[in-house]
Amino acid sequence: MANETVEISDLGNLRRTHYCGQVGLSDVGKTVTLLGWVNRRRDLGELIFIDMRDRTGLVQVVCNRAASAEAFRVAEAVRSEYVLAVIGTVAARAEGQINRDMATGSIEVVAQEIRILNTAKTPPIYIRDEAEQDELLRLKYRYLDLRRVPMQRNLEFHHKTSMAVRNYLSEQGYWEIETPMMTRSTPEGARDFLVPSRLDPGKFYALAQSPQLFKQLLMVGGTDKYFQIVRCFRDEDLRADRQPEFTQIDIESSFATEETVWELVEGLMKRLWKDVMNQELETPFPRLTYDEAMSRFGSDKPDTRFGMEIQDVTPVFKNTAFGVFRSTVESGGTLRAICLPGQAGVSRHEVDALTVRAKTHGAKGLVTVAYHEGDIKSAIKKYLTEDEISGLKQAVGANDGDMVLIVADAFETAVTVLGRLRLEMANKLGLIPKDKFNFLWITKFPLLKRNEETGEWEAAHHPFTSPMAEDALTLLRTEAPEALPDDVKAHIYARMYDLVMNGVELASGSIRIHRRDLQEKVFRLLGLSNEEARNKFGFLLDAFEYGAPPHGGIAFGLDRLVMLMAGCDTIRDVIAFPKTSSGTCPLTDAPAPVDDKQLADLGLARIDRK
Ligand code: AMO
Repeated sequence: MANETVEISDLGNLRRTHYCGQVGLSDVGKTVTLLGWVNRRRDLGELIFIDMRDRTGLVQVVCNRAASAEAFRVAEAVRSEYVLAVIGTVAARAEGQINRDMATGSIEVVAQEIRILNTAKTPPIYIRDEAEQDELLRLKYRYLDLRRVPMQRNLEFHHKTSMAVRNYLSEQGYWEIETPMMTRSTPEGARDFLVPSRLDPGKFYALAQSPQLFKQLLMVGGTDKYFQIVRCFRDEDLRADRQPEFTQIDIESSFATEETVWELVEGLMKRLWKDVMNQELETPFPRLTYDEAMSRFGSDKPDTRFGMEIQDVTPVFKNTAFGVFRSTVESGGTLRAICLPGQAGVSRHEVDALTVRAKTHGAKGLVTVAYHEGDIKSAIKKYLTEDEISGLKQAVGANDGDMVLIVADAFETAVTVLGRLRLEMANKLGLIPKDKFNFLWITKFPLLKRNEETGEWEAAHHPFTSPMAEDALTLLRTEAPEALPDDVKAHIYARMYDLVMNGVELASGSIRIHRRDLQEKVFRLLGLSNEEARNKFGFLLDAFEYGAPPHGGIAFGLDRLVMLMAGCDTIRDVIAFPKTSSGTCPLTDAPAPVDDKQLADLGLARIDRK
């Protein structure tokens, strides 16, 4: 309970002279006014120490009767999280008293006056330290959680990043232009959040999944260079790096080519790292085609901070006596392997656990070969020839003491399973350097991919992405693109690119289609008839008939970018008021029921979903 008897003072005309975390040795002898919270109070009888906190950090305030009997009296009543104004003199601490864990640890503020501006109940969460705490509770009391200095630092990172983005893009001639949030749905691959129309019952707006079509229309409108730091809304399964509402840095320009977009983005990243992280970034970033990324890392967002690349070991086993390997290759599959350094000695139990992991990721099984000096350990040892044993060792670059994992399967399964094991094992073995920022462009994506649930072809990025020039020509000449055989569809490539850092997709973009005829062909490829396309996207197709310039762009997940820059594990830590992984807000209890009158106004009826 708050201490009811405590005398609460007015702020009056008091003004802060210094933030707590910014008082330093150069201020010794000065009188300062600090405004903030009590992080901790220690009462040593004749001395009371108060660690005071504001968004910049902590400073120690010391109260003794000699300096001010009145301040000492007030300090006796102070408790954690009380809001204080402290006027005091900055003093250097004696050598033995210096606290090297505290940025302001070489000084302290001797209190002359303390005003209690407000009291506080005992907080339901720890604010003081980084103690592991239940995230639901943290989000319920987010206003307390945010008082922690690391959280304030994350918000500052977010702010500085946005500012640097705005400055840089504006200097490059880009204009920030707002686009509607309530719109028709544009297909970005997720479900829409719908907003019922009261004026037109039965009709709905969709909250924009991204400004994709509007930014393209701005190009048709002659705006030439656009950007927007914009909220996007997607009803999809949430993960550590996904939120139902998140912020994009959205960019588009007319007459763009891949090179002009990459150059702009590399300049932007260089600038952010300099302004926000105070670090030099090397550009240009390396580029990998999608196919190369899949075959070397089993992922279209590879973490390149460590090796352990996937190798094709099919040639090593071309005459294999091991039935599973032989039948896999005969049926068009492949044998892929990775090498786990220093893991030859792992227990049987751990090998079994690895096999279970591989199966969870979709493999039928996992073969392990442990290289000991002059010998190997493997369940398939009896099938292996000397040549195969040494050939495998060479192909994956293994040494004695290492363990090789082999997956025999269709290409896609083999590489994705190994790609996941590669990441899991590198994490487990501590092989991922935490201080590296490895940027990478992934290029030349397939235009289409199969929907995992329905098996239907859909746009790998979105339907407005241009196919590569030669594929565009073929499509234009094809009467019925929807009837193209699957293996042709699988090999149409897109002018699409992703920017990946440390295994996270930071940004995604493409050169767009700007001709009606090609856009119609691509819609048909995606299974939309001309009529359906006209119904849904007539406004875009029409716009393309009035002199649409070639154009292209990209969009970053701003929260993801800040998460990586700030070294956080989840985007929830860099968003002031995020949703939980089940899409709720424990602070406001959203989503919440609405009353029948509100539903009636919108022409909606309540249906019990049992
Ligand atoms: P895309 O859908 O790939 O492209 O999104 C671009 C980037 O936005 C981030 N992102 C997310 N961040 C947090 N939570 C989410 N739910 C979420 N979904 C996406 C990712 C991603 O790389 N209009 C196109 C861009 C373009 O073509 O210019 C688009 O939105 O970092």
